Amino acid sequence: MSETEIEELPGVGPATAEKLRDAGYNTLLAIAVESPKNLADLADIGEAVAVKVIAAAKKAADLGGFETGDVVLERRQNIGKLTTCSKSFDSLMGGGFECQAITELFGEFGSGKTQIAHQCAVSVQLPEDKGGLDADVIIIDTENTFRPERIAQMAEGLELDPVKVLKRIHVARAFNSHHQMLLAEKAKEIAEEYPVRLLIVDSLTSHFRAEYIGRGALADRQQKLNKHMHDLLRFGDLYNACVVVTNQVSAKPDAFFGDPTRPIGGHIVGHTATFRLYLRKSKGGKRIARLIDSPNLPEAEAVITIDETGVRD
Ligand code: GTP
Ligand code: MG
Repeated sequence: MSETEIEELPGVGPATAEKLRDAGYNTLLAIAVESPKNLADLADIGEAVAVKVIAAAKKAADLGGFETGDVVLERRQNIGKLTTCSKSFDSLMGGGFECQAITELFGEFGSGKTQIAHQCAVSVQLPEDKGGLDADVIIIDTENTFRPERIAQMAEGLELDPVKVLKRIHVARAFNSHHQMLLAEKAKEIAEEYPVRLLIVDSLTSHFRAEYIGRGALADRQQKLNKHMHDLLRFGDLYNACVVVTNQVSAKPDAFFGDPTRPIGGHIVGHTATFRLYLRKSKGGKRIARLIDSPNLPEAEAVITIDETGVRD
């Protein structure tokens, strides 16, 4: 949507419009789905103004009414699915990783989280008739585990040109949790310029876990994680994109959960992720992916292998 359209909103003068644009609100939809407090903070306007602006944007964007289930069903049929390159993994997920949703991969070290994330970064570039979305990808790398060499191998495994594939991957290293959150906001700028349909955060929780230590820091950590997760979800909605995040299980008891097989991040991550997948190592280098939380799919497992070409049955 053009700049003038934001300026045409009642109560939005040129100065406010500029503040909104500076804060990354380029579309009516982005404004319509924001909370008054966030909009006021980020665009540096009063909360009362924010309430009015959001209401006007909702009206202009024709947003916020009830609709019947059949209409929702029809719309959901257009939501993209991204192939994992394993047939059994895809069918576990009802056809692949879903767009406009967060898929969380959690499991211990070496369980395959980063490998699956790399695979998605390649498969999203496949044409739609081959299970891809013919699109670019953004990767927020917090553990310095992005490997272009591995991408090149996987590209060859799908008979894609490695150089072209690497050119469609926009990767940034996040140095701490604050930086990670900023990058998630910056991702919108990349998505305005390139046709991005996949956002990967690998790992979602490692910085948060390292920086917020002890019971006293827990509330603050969970609040930040909550905001971050909602930014990611909103990215998925705005760009009809898949969001894939990785999460380790706590080897030592987490401050919150004593159970050593629990994913980090507690309720916040668990409730905001749309699909949760638990990965574990199995015999002969195989990996087992267990879908443990989904709004519409049964709890079930798929066995996958990871070889030179990538993720396969
Ligand atoms: P953390 O980030 O440490 O929590 O682990 P992770 O779950 O991200 O593990 P990752 O996806 O990095 O998995 C690493 C494993 O993938 C290795 O131990 C190998 O078994 C396998 N792997 C990685 N690269 C290759 C490869 O080129 N060929 C094969 N056959 N296996 C590979
Ligand atoms: Mg990893």
